[in-house]
Amino acid sequence: LQVDKGHYRHYMAKEIHEQPEVVGRTLAHYLDLASGTVRLPFAFDFDARALSRVTISACGTAFYAGLLARYWLERFARLSVDIDIASEFRYREAPLPERGLMIVVSQSGETADTLAALRYARAHGQHVLSIVNVETSTIARESDTVALTLAGPEIGVASTKAFTCQLAVFACLALALGRARGVLTEEREKELVAELIATPGLMAQVLKDEARIEPVARDVARASSVLYLGRGPSYPLALEGALKLKELSYIHAEGYAAGELKHGPIALIDFSIPVVVLAPHDASLEKTVSNLQEVAARGGHLILVGPNSAKVAAAADLAGFIEMPETAAGAFAALVYALPAQLLAYHVSVFMGKDVDQPRNLAKSVTVE
Ligand code: G6P
Repeated sequence: LQVDKGHYRHYMAKEIHEQPEVVGRTLAHYLDLASGTVRLPFAFDFDARALSRVTISACGTAFYAGLLARYWLERFARLSVDIDIASEFRYREAPLPERGLMIVVSQSGETADTLAALRYARAHGQHVLSIVNVETSTIARESDTVALTLAGPEIGVASTKAFTCQLAVFACLALALGRARGVLTEEREKELVAELIATPGLMAQVLKDEARIEPVARDVARASSVLYLGRGPSYPLALEGALKLKELSYIHAEGYAAGELKHGPIALIDFSIPVVVLAPHDASLEKTVSNLQEVAARGGHLILVGPNSAKVAAAADLAGFIEMPETAAGAFAALVYALPAQLLAYHVSVFMGKDVDQPRNLAKSVTVE
């Protein structure tokens, strides 16, 4: 399969820029746009009402998509979620509920540990639903239900568009499960679907303003360590942002739950460590802002990714500000906030002259244990 870079310098840049389109396409596959409701292209061949919990397993960026989806599955489908990285899950000897649901997530559909997690789940009587980008992959073939991400081929080793498409599928799945379980009203479903439908347009808006990220990237490129903070769905996004930065720039980076700051990372705070705070306008904004102020009070090097209202509320000295649209808010803001995290890592890597599409020591698909 031949995929070219178009007018982009790197596959990763092209793939970042494709997100409004491929997320839109993925959403259209799982939603009925005319009625503004969810319509999955497959039926649940398990009893959604009888489920007590869901198990999720994956590796790398796909794992962070699952971690983020936990917030949606718990909130909208009232399902508790047990999630673990596949290399751990496969050996944990985890007891699984009778006729339970296992969701595995994989761009390639070939990751060895994820496949082993799937086989463990099958052997223990789980219904396996896989969220994969490659329809013909081993994971897809061995699953009971396949939920495709319509991201198209992803060439850059660091996953970008597959991640946001995985989030789009998970969001639709959470709403569909909520409806099937009778815990989500049609009215609420429609409100949430409207929020989802708005995300590709918001992504396009963020991409249009990409140039603003370059000065922030030049600043981050000087650091030897970077901290990412977020709360709620922004916490897995902080983990993903840190992963992207380490993969692409080889700068040490860590993601932390903003509320956990005082239990350790606050000891690191000085001006040499940029702290990237992901602060969408959602239910936890106020708390995130107060964590940001804790960093500011200790002379921290703050980079805020959020709407102007968050900047005003923070009233703190910022070393960098990546302004996000005010309307990128609510439950699914993470789909839009993934982009500045990807773009920041991308531009740091370009600025430092690293191999963006093929970072050292990494493989696109890890088919050995
Ligand atoms: C490798 C890739 C990552 C990816 C992970 C899981 O580490 O470099 O980008 O997130 O594998 O891959 P999968 O194909 O299972 O999503």
